[in-house]
Amino acid sequence: MSISSFLTKKFLKSLFFPAHNRGKALPKNLIKLLKETPGFWDLPELPEIGTPMSKKGLIAQSQKLLSEKFNTKGCFFGVNGASGLLQSGVVAMANPGEYILMPRNVHISVIRACAMQNIIPIFFDVEFSIETGHYKPLKKEWFLTVFENIDFKNKKIVGVILVNPYYQGYCSELEALIDICHKKNLPVLVDEAHGSYFLFCENLNLPKSAVMLNADLVVHSLHKSLNGLTQTGVLWYKGNLIEEENLIKSLSLFQTTSPSSLLLSSCEESLKDWQNIDSLSRYQERIKEARIIFEKLTKKDIPLIDTQDPLKIILNTSAIGIDGFSADKFFYKNGLIAELPEMMTLTFCLGFSDQKDFMIHFEKLWKKLLLEPKKFKHIKVEKPPFKLIDTPEIEIGTAWRNKTKIIHLSESLGKISGDIICPYPPGIPLLVPGERIDKKRLNWIETQSLYNEDLLNSYIRVLDT
Ligand SMILES: Cc1ncc(COP(=O)(O)O)c(C=O)c1O
Repeated sequence: MSISSFLTKKFLKSLFFPAHNRGKALPKNLIKLLKETPGFWDLPELPEIGTPMSKKGLIAQSQKLLSEKFNTKGCFFGVNGASGLLQSGVVAMANPGEYILMPRNVHISVIRACAMQNIIPIFFDVEFSIETGHYKPLKKEWFLTVFENIDFKNKKIVGVILVNPYYQGYCSELEALIDICHKKNLPVLVDEAHGSYFLFCENLNLPKSAVMLNADLVVHSLHKSLNGLTQTGVLWYKGNLIEEENLIKSLSLFQTTSPSSLLLSSCEESLKDWQNIDSLSRYQERIKEARIIFEKLTKKDIPLIDTQDPLKIILNTSAIGIDGFSADKFFYKNGLIAELPEMMTLTFCLGFSDQKDFMIHFEKLWKKLLLEPKKFKHIKVEKPPFKLIDTPEIEIGTAWRNKTKIIHLSESLGKISGDIICPYPPGIPLLVPGERIDKKRLNWIETQSLYNEDLLNSYIRVLDT
């Protein structure tokens, strides 16, 4: 079967990203454009259009209007996802050999940029829930303890990265965390890939966007948390801690020389759509409906986990002795396609289209799942074995470039990783280049591989010393 044939495949319900739900919630102007002669709109960077880095042209104009609207110094559209924009942010913040402080649950794209530029991550641990298998949101006290334990004198720390919300929708005490960093004059890059829509919904009891909380750089994934096409993103910048020239230089490092005009238009339309009163009230309705769906399903004793993002419906599959990966297979087979299987949970993303019939299908399948032949077991998740503060034993860029050999994970005890081990989704590395594979880490990865086929029988590149 060709890719193009597969793209037309119908599912009973698509509860995955992109959040436009297979076109149903695309902005009207984009739908209009897509109805034109196919491909007609696929233009090069003609002077009238320009590129995200141009001073003139329609893209520059649109970015300027948006940045004025949200009181930022500027913003840039991106067609290489939030990943590319995060990588630009990382490189704008630090030079090779300098340090960036980041949580252990940072996205893989950040680690790749660090490996490429030898920017050294100082990881801080994040509290973890063995009831859900998820990292817990960061509290001010925890972050202060992290700061107290950091060797600011001997390490040139030039910035901090925060992830907010997490994939599942948990939100930290962001304002306080940003404030702590700013008191030390450290710029903050917030990975708000999953929270773009917070920027437009001030009165819905949602967390505040990092853009409003004066983060220096904020990255939005427009296909994950607005209604953009896959690969669309936007980066906002504020304050005086990041040099604009540096940022522009870094953006060009991770940008194709031929950005797709369709994707750039999708960036613009997805952001403009949320400023249109009619569309905004429709989306706000969806958010309210999502909250009702959560309440109704919970009242039916379906074990859901609550987070600050109403559009994520998280089923605690471990409550009935099923891991999230097996549950995912069950739902997939029955036509309900979820977004994120994990050891104890399965997350469904409602997106921005009408999901009223989701409840009926979901409840029906939940009842069917309960009747499945009893293979149920006690799902036990282990706390990740990280120190409060940790940095790879060998510089990440050196380890990444070093001569390596591939061995089976089970034989890697005591070796230094030359690789990133990272199940996707959620794209949070379990091991990064330069880290030593000790017993605890190996056991932890092996426990996860009991459930996660991606990790099963995995091989790893270790330094060949
Ligand atoms: C927290 C987080 N940040 C960034 C990204 C990257 O987003 P994109 O797919 O737009 O590149 C992801 C993707 O899963 C993510 O979960």
